Amino acid sequence: MDRIRITGGQKLLGVIPISGAKNAALPLMIASLLTPETLTLENVPRLADVRLLIRILGNHGVDHTVDGKRLGDSPNAGQTIHFRSKEIVDTTAPYELVSRMRASFWVLAPLLARAGEAKVSLPGGCAIGTRPVDLLLEALQSLGVDLEIENGYVVATARKGLVGGEVNFAKVTVGGTHTALMGAAMARGDTVIRNAACEPEVKDLADCLNAMGAKISGAGTSTIEVQGVTSLHGARHSVLPDRIETGTYAMAVAMTGGDVLLEGARADLLQAALDVLAQTGADVLPTELGVRIRRNGGAIEPVDVTTDPFPGFPTDLQAQFMGLMTRAAGSSRITETIFENRFMHVQELARLGARIRLDGDTAIVEGVKALTGAPVMATDLRASVSLVIAGLAAQGDTTVHRVYHLDRGFERLEQKLVACGAQIERVSDPG
Ligand code: UD1
Repeated sequence: MDRIRITGGQKLLGVIPISGAKNAALPLMIASLLTPETLTLENVPRLADVRLLIRILGNHGVDHTVDGKRLGDSPNAGQTIHFRSKEIVDTTAPYELVSRMRASFWVLAPLLARAGEAKVSLPGGCAIGTRPVDLLLEALQSLGVDLEIENGYVVATARKGLVGGEVNFAKVTVGGTHTALMGAAMARGDTVIRNAACEPEVKDLADCLNAMGAKISGAGTSTIEVQGVTSLHGARHSVLPDRIETGTYAMAVAMTGGDVLLEGARADLLQAALDVLAQTGADVLPTELGVRIRRNGGAIEPVDVTTDPFPGFPTDLQAQFMGLMTRAAGSSRITETIFENRFMHVQELARLGARIRLDGDTAIVEGVKALTGAPVMATDLRASVSLVIAGLAAQGDTTVHRVYHLDRGFERLEQKLVACGAQIERVSDPG
């Protein structure tokens, strides 16, 4: 099993190209189930989750081709992939696949829209809290879907097609909003989605669906209106830049010191996190090419943070920010409001010498003068990258085990960091 070995203490200097967003690419790929024509996605990141979803979609009958490199392409360009689901050949998404990636549960809505039925295993994914799917299922029921739970599977039918309706989310849910959008796009009649997630990835999905012929307005706000259409057609769409990858590297620079241009990043996608970084003492400079982050000496100021749905501070940057706060000149409070049990990184950060106390949904972090390298264990995608960041700033060597978590969501992590002067390498065990 691969490990990542880091020798800490280097400043980061240079350019890091930001990849297409995993959390946008996944629902966009799933949207290809909605049309028999070709959906071409550009700027798709090279990630384990993308490869797994390609397998899952292939099982339903989606063919894909990946464009080869073109003369003049930047070596950092994302992939262009053409998806075509001429016919849905199988409406079952089996446990073996869905249990490995929660987002694959979202095939439910487009399978229902296209085939009138779907049988999808209850999901797995990152171990961050119980993560129920009740709100996704309620949304589908509001669109006329009949549901049963049988042997760990959701068995859903909409024999006469989906029908428009009112979807009122009791809690903001990104996956629920994706589900409602994909269900409503081809429903008979109009749908209003209230308390919708405002995340940029929801807007990206709606933009793509509109390019495919859907009639969606208000995406990016908490009320979305959808006029159902009878069919969708092919389209071409570019995946938006990854705001979580952007914030992750920004925090790495704020922690190690240095000066890095996050090329292709869009500040408007993570303004709350960038504002917090500026309060910690980092220079945050949006430029035409991306976002530049700089910190030269000076203390890391402690800042209190509470995670919130967009446009608030993202839960997917909570672990990384905690890594930064472990070196702050004072005490900070980090409150997690989106997922319970999303503090698994705390005990691993403690192995590097961090001083963190948990009080319910709040972590109280007492900044220390220095972290020291140690072997640590990655537990989930974002937690594992917080350990990498901390390792980059620690004295001595850190080894991060179970790096397959990182490969799910960070494209060419070691290469991007090495190019900026970090001492980080992947070590594979023989056999
Ligand atoms: C997506 C992101 C994930 C991010 C999260 C919150 C992808 C692939 N994943 O996950 O990286 O951390 O948004 O920004 O895009 N909930 C319910 N019932 C439901 C659905 C959700 O109670 O049916 C709860 C969840 O347990 C959680 C909250 O709602 O407490 C938000 O979850 P949600 O926004 O749905 O997260 P995901 O879409 O799974």
